[in-house]
Amino acid sequence: MILVTGGAGFIGSNFVLDWLAQSDESVINLDKLTYAGNLDNLSTIANDSRHIFVRGDIGDTALVGSLLAEYRPRAVVHFAAESHVDRSILGPAAFIETNVTGTFKLLEAVRAYWNSLPATEGSSFRFLHVSTDEVYGSLEPDAPPFTETTAYAPNSPYSASKAASDHLVRSYHHTYGLPVLTTNCSNNYGPYHFPEKLIPLILTNARAGKALPVYGDGQQVRDWLYVGDHCAAIRRVLADGRVGEVYNVGGWNEKTNLDVVRSLCTMLDLLDPKQPGMDGAVHSYAEQITFVEDRPGHDRRYAIDARKLERELGWRPAETFETGIEKTVRWYLANEEWVRNVQSGDYQNWLEKNYAGRDQRKERP
Ligand code: NAD
Ligand code: DAU
Repeated sequence: MILVTGGAGFIGSNFVLDWLAQSDESVINLDKLTYAGNLDNLSTIANDSRHIFVRGDIGDTALVGSLLAEYRPRAVVHFAAESHVDRSILGPAAFIETNVTGTFKLLEAVRAYWNSLPATEGSSFRFLHVSTDEVYGSLEPDAPPFTETTAYAPNSPYSASKAASDHLVRSYHHTYGLPVLTTNCSNNYGPYHFPEKLIPLILTNARAGKALPVYGDGQQVRDWLYVGDHCAAIRRVLADGRVGEVYNVGGWNEKTNLDVVRSLCTMLDLLDPKQPGMDGAVHSYAEQITFVEDRPGHDRRYAIDARKLERELGWRPAETFETGIEKTVRWYLANEEWVRNVQSGDYQNWLEKNYAGRDQRKERP
């Protein structure tokens, strides 16, 4: 049994689905179901008894303590967070509350549980903290990619809150001996990605005939990784990572935002071409690209050096940017109802739709 936090979000739900597809080990999924949590992501395992969904907050020490005591997980994989940089600029408070205070409270509950375990269970227990490359700040164009020893230099309230949580996790290992692992990953993309983030926003806006907003000059660089590869990396680190260590995760796929948006338009032109216009011509989705005001404090470049993970644990991404993007575009084309439910807010009617009668702890929102 493992406990996953934030398992109804983008990466967490992909992780839970992958986990149950590859192992018989059950998962307790603790998620508050904020705007970013979506049980539609987990509809294919709604009747799978190996998945125990609990609606709750990582900061609810009594709830977390009772889940740990009842289910006695051998590991906690911590995804739950406020994750969107633009939201952190508009309203940082929730980021401090969940990412910093929430992680602290979770660590306290886990420490108490871990202390109660017999020696053999205690030494095999793991707390895996899922974090981001944004803690390292912004790279100059010719600088080498971030390694695990790059100094922290977070620039947004989001990345500062994640940096704080990384430091707390590190301190719980050094001070209390809690067996922790931390992963710092680059930008993910793939199925179930909430359409506030660049790639799903472009795909959904393009098909709705809306503007495709590119911040500033569009020359900012991100290092893209298919979400399934991130999930595989987390499984490897959880299985064989060295306690107390940090592992960077990335796909060696540095792209400017403008190139990403253009690639998405090209893929859509191929897989879902527009109807001919009044002029009789088939227009490209790229005509919808619109340059808009830049994000305040926008980091210019991120890039990850993932060689430690490859060297020590043999992990390598299975997808290239091209194969991952094609899978992603095909997924969004095939899952229009998921997109519609997110856009209409209907995905938040979670209890009635998927989970009626599944877990006594869940409450109506
Ligand atoms: P997401 O926003 O899609 O999902 C977050 C999930 O956490 C949601 O289901 C939400 O309901 C839940 N949640 C939020 N606050 C909670 C709380 N207080 N208690 C319990 N549950 C709560 O995020 P994501 O993109 O899936 O990211 C997951 C983790 O991975 C985050 O920690 C993020 O920092 C990290 N990360 C994300 C990326 C990326 O590209 N998306 C890259 C690297 C690291
Ligand atoms: O690097 C890892 C991080 O990647 C994660 O830790 C975060 O949780 C995740 O949200 C993501 O952060 P970004 O800010 O890089 O992702 P986002 O999709 O918001 O933006 C990607 C890039 O595209 C960024 O440079 C801003 C730009 N952008 C974004 C949006 C939403 C645009 O140009 N237009 C847009 O409309």
